[in-house]
Parts: sequence; structure tokens; C-alpha cells
Amino acid sequence: MISIGAKKQIDAWIAKYPKDRKSSAVMQTLKIIQAENENKLSADTIQAVADYLDMPDIAVQEVATFYENYNHKKVGKYVIRFCHNISCMLNGADDLIAYLENKLGVQTDEVTPDGLISVKKVECLGACVGAPMFQINDEYFENLTFDKIDKIVDNLK
Ligand code: FES
Repeated sequence: MISIGAKKQIDAWIAKYPKDRKSSAVMQTLKIIQAENENKLSADTIQAVADYLDMPDIAVQEVATFYENYNHKKVGKYVIRFCHNISCMLNGADDLIAYLENKLGVQTDEVTPDGLISVKKVECLGACVGAPMFQINDEYFENLTFDKIDKIVDNLK
């Protein structure tokens, strides 16, 4: 279930913590496992993480369902996580999200028919000074406008 390559990456994270604190590597481990499994987690992959880190599976499940960066169903190659928290909302996020959904022809939590892009609404991503903003995979895009969204999304295609 966990590849040799993934184990090497996970072991490097585990080594950063005291020997009796393997569970501290759970977030990075979930990220690595998710990347190896079509960008989503399943009950089996969560169990594999729990076994590897000697954690109760419910503890791994709690982390995996608390944070927005873990996916539990099919997502696109590019996941647009659009912040709709207070700073972004006050700077027009709701209109921009509606514009993006209309442009892509999908609603939040759906994937474009070509499997390329999915959109999620998320809570504050800690970039309030650049509101409104979204994250695509690991990259932040700030001070969004309708034109900026057009350019960014058209570049993904
Ligand atoms: S409110 Fe959107 S990044 Fe903080």
C-alpha cells in the first residue's frame, strides 16, 4: 500500500521528531500518500498511514478530515482552493467564486469533465493581506480579479 519511495520520504519526516513521536509526521505522511493515490485518500490509505505511524486509525482520520488540503473524493489535476473567509469575502471572493464556477462549468467540489480542474471553497489560508486569493495545488495567487482569474485558469489548460 505504501511504496518504497513514499516510505523513504515518510521516514525522512519521522526522523525530524523524537523517536516516540512518529505521529508528528502524520500531516506530511498523508500528503505523500495522497499524492501517490490519484490525489485522494481512502479508508485503506488512512489505515495504511495509521499502521505505519503506529497511530489509531481514528486519530489519522481526524487529521485527514479536519484540514482542507486532503481530498476524500476524486479531484482534478489542479485543485483550486478558493478562500471565502472574512478578508477574502469582504474583497469580493463570493462574486469571483461564482465567476470561476461559471467559467469552468462546475460547482464547488466538482471536477471539470476533462478531469483537469476542481474547485473547493476553503477557510482562511493565511494570506489575508493578498485577499481575495486562492491556492492551486501548492501555489498561492493573490489580489485576484476577474481578469487575473481568466489568465491563471487559461494557463492551466
Ligand atoms: S481570509 Fe482569505 S486568506 Fe485569510
